[in-house]
Amino acid sequence: MSTSTAPLILMALALISSAPAQARERQDWSAGWRFAKGDPAGAPALKPADFKPWLLAGAAPLLATPPAAPPTGPAPGESLTYAQPGFDDAGWRQLDLPHDWGVEGDFDQALPGETGKLPWQGVAWYRKHLAQPAGAAGQRTVLEIDGALANSAVYCNGRLVGGWAYGYTSYQVDLTGCLKPGADNTLAIRLDNPPDSSRWYPGGGLYRHVWLTRTDAVHVPAGQVFVRTPQVTPERATVAVRVAVANESRAPVRVGVTVDIYRADADGHPVGKPLLPSREQPRTLKAGDRTALDFDVRLDKPALWDVSSPQRHVAVTVVKQGGRVLDRVETPFGIRQIAFTADDGFHLNGRRVQLNGVCMHHDLGALGAAFNVRAAERQLGLLREMGVNALRTSHNPPAPELLELTDRMGFLVVDELFDTWTHAKKPNDYHQHFADWSEPDLRAWVRRDRNHPSVILWSIGNEIHELGRPDGPPVAARLAGLVKQEDPSRLVSAAANVVQAGYNGFQKTVDVFGYNYKPKEYAKFHAANPAQPLFGSETASTLSTRGEYVFPVSDDPTQGRAGFQVSSYDLVYPSWATTPDAEFKAQDQQRYVAGEFVWTGFDYLGEPTPYNDDLTNVLNFPEGPERERAREELARLGKIQMPSRSSYFGILDLAGFKKDRFYLYQAHWRPELPMAHILPHWNWPERVGQVTPVHVYTSGDEAELFLNGRSLGRKKKAEGDYRLRWDDVVYEPGELRVVAYKAGKEWARDRVVTTGAAAALQLAADRSTIAADGKDLAFVTATVADAAGQAVPRSKPLLRFAVDGPGEIVATDNGDPTDHTAFKATERRAFNSLALAIVKLKPGATGAVTLKVSSEGLKPAEVVIRAR
Ligand code: GAL
Repeated sequence: MSTSTAPLILMALALISSAPAQARERQDWSAGWRFAKGDPAGAPALKPADFKPWLLAGAAPLLATPPAAPPTGPAPGESLTYAQPGFDDAGWRQLDLPHDWGVEGDFDQALPGETGKLPWQGVAWYRKHLAQPAGAAGQRTVLEIDGALANSAVYCNGRLVGGWAYGYTSYQVDLTGCLKPGADNTLAIRLDNPPDSSRWYPGGGLYRHVWLTRTDAVHVPAGQVFVRTPQVTPERATVAVRVAVANESRAPVRVGVTVDIYRADADGHPVGKPLLPSREQPRTLKAGDRTALDFDVRLDKPALWDVSSPQRHVAVTVVKQGGRVLDRVETPFGIRQIAFTADDGFHLNGRRVQLNGVCMHHDLGALGAAFNVRAAERQLGLLREMGVNALRTSHNPPAPELLELTDRMGFLVVDELFDTWTHAKKPNDYHQHFADWSEPDLRAWVRRDRNHPSVILWSIGNEIHELGRPDGPPVAARLAGLVKQEDPSRLVSAAANVVQAGYNGFQKTVDVFGYNYKPKEYAKFHAANPAQPLFGSETASTLSTRGEYVFPVSDDPTQGRAGFQVSSYDLVYPSWATTPDAEFKAQDQQRYVAGEFVWTGFDYLGEPTPYNDDLTNVLNFPEGPERERAREELARLGKIQMPSRSSYFGILDLAGFKKDRFYLYQAHWRPELPMAHILPHWNWPERVGQVTPVHVYTSGDEAELFLNGRSLGRKKKAEGDYRLRWDDVVYEPGELRVVAYKAGKEWARDRVVTTGAAAALQLAADRSTIAADGKDLAFVTATVADAAGQAVPRSKPLLRFAVDGPGEIVATDNGDPTDHTAFKATERRAFNSLALAIVKLKPGATGAVTLKVSSEGLKPAEVVIRAR
């Protein structure tokens, strides 16, 4: 060492040793698992119910009354070789989480369309080794599972140590007692998805992230920092933080606890100095004890969290013993004021904000249920472009990262827990678990999500069958009471499809009432319950397929179907539903309604109404022409099954391509954005001389349509009109052009033209530079174009995708609800001119990959995606 550098190194060492020790270590533990389907040969049949006493014992901290002790003797599954540490899993497939085994499978016509015709059912195992450091003695090691579908059982060195029934709850398993420090330890996780347990595609597997957290024996337990902002004005905010500290060591301990509030960076980490340094609160904790501490902080001129400026803060909790940091927890939060009013809808920071919301299932299209941050962020970006400011996580808690995104991007969230309580919707659904598990599921849900500023309402259930029955109110009241115990700062709601639930007493059990598909009931509800806030918890359910148009165009919602597709004139909906326009009108006329959550933002796997493939769904149609048509369609097929595997409800299709409806919502939800959109496309060689109606969606109030330069008339929206219609246009090829006006001034234009034949392919990536971490994704759109570079409607050529360089094609899609090509396939037909390829880079890759697409007779294309 030269004498000149020595002081620098000494200074650096001094800095390192004075920095607070990171007593808590949280590792993403998602890489390098082994996976196999099924139980070992000859294993006894195990049912989810067999595990109940053991798993409930692990949920004890979330139960007010301690659960019964599990029976003595070996627990279920412990005798199976797959659970044993000695089992050689080298032959098993190696993979990284999040993983969904269902979406990897082939579509199978024999499987129910309701759950996507994908093989998510059955048993599977995951295994991973854990080298526990020798120095870990005295520490706690906890496995955090963000979601496991479903009925998971976790074995540590052959012992059943935890697990969870409901696939959508995040849970923790304390591994401390079973791990051998300084040795190799084995974790094995068994999952079991019974058939007939879901109304939509749930996926199967460890489909969210898994974390390994090590803390001192004296620590803040999971979910035990709770930040509220009870008073918020532009001048001042009160931040109330409640922290629990547990001493799981064998000796008493004297600790000092501080909570400092910082401004947060984009990732929710502290920046700069604390806004107000915390007073240290001392506590003495006996061995095995737990204590709660309250911190109240007043901030002047707080930076508020809002949909337009989602500024965040972070509470940093530090537990110290003498000068030693035992634990340090960062809790991002937002300072905002929310209020549901009975007569003026929802207020955020003192002003009315109309909830322009969508409902979303958890699958990410071609990626299935396997959660991916970038895929969710892309969805939110597209929804934002449409004017969405709110999401309902129908009908279950989302991945934790989704709420991190909604906090960061400024969306409002109705966080929902259940689709069933005690009465079944499917023979093996959650009703089987409700009696034992509803309390731990509910407490885990609220504790995990209650610090997110984006969460504005807790929904305890969707269309639960108790709504119209006397057993509904007591269950609802119990659940609402539990929510209030865990979070007194937010209100409780439920989504009701039964009109009577607004009058039979059920409505009194929730704070904010949600009607599904009842725009005509709002006024009656409001008159009968004038003090109760109301919103459209689920609306529209309009059906369409991107780029498909069925003639003649009719306003009869049961028409507009052909070839297992639904016409994109946005006039088709099932018996319980409406057009978007009808809901807009009800919302506009009744400002006490806080807004709506459209079913759905994106198409999802499963529930392909109106082509559900079983007769029970046909019977859901009221007696009449719609039911008859469904029956006839089934009879014509000569079998029960229809080909459809994904929904038609989405405003965007399964691949994330915009349907026409996107522009209907955008026109209404972003009135300040100059835009106009014409439908249908103008490639109808077989319709020359035939009436081919033209609809225009515009944020303007008037528009003039031109066909090959001739005016087809200028039309103005009347009160309650949300689209302009030229219903008697006679088709001739050429150009259709619209000029929209607002308040008499030109506002926006759009045009569609009759294109030439397909000649070339185009590729466009949503981002040309991505992280080489094996997770970040580029979504690449392939377009089939004519010689002039215009997308060719109705074109469906077979495309071949390939990559050159250190990356891979994760999945492909085209948004066609009837396409049975496996998502992992690299050959896929374009659907109505478009296809999607999802590309990722290998972890640590440098340079770039080139994605190429080719198709017989068409000029190929390529796009380069660089490593960041
Ligand atoms: C609702 C239900 C949703 C979905 C939708 C389709 O009644 O809550 O889960 O099934 O219908 O329109």
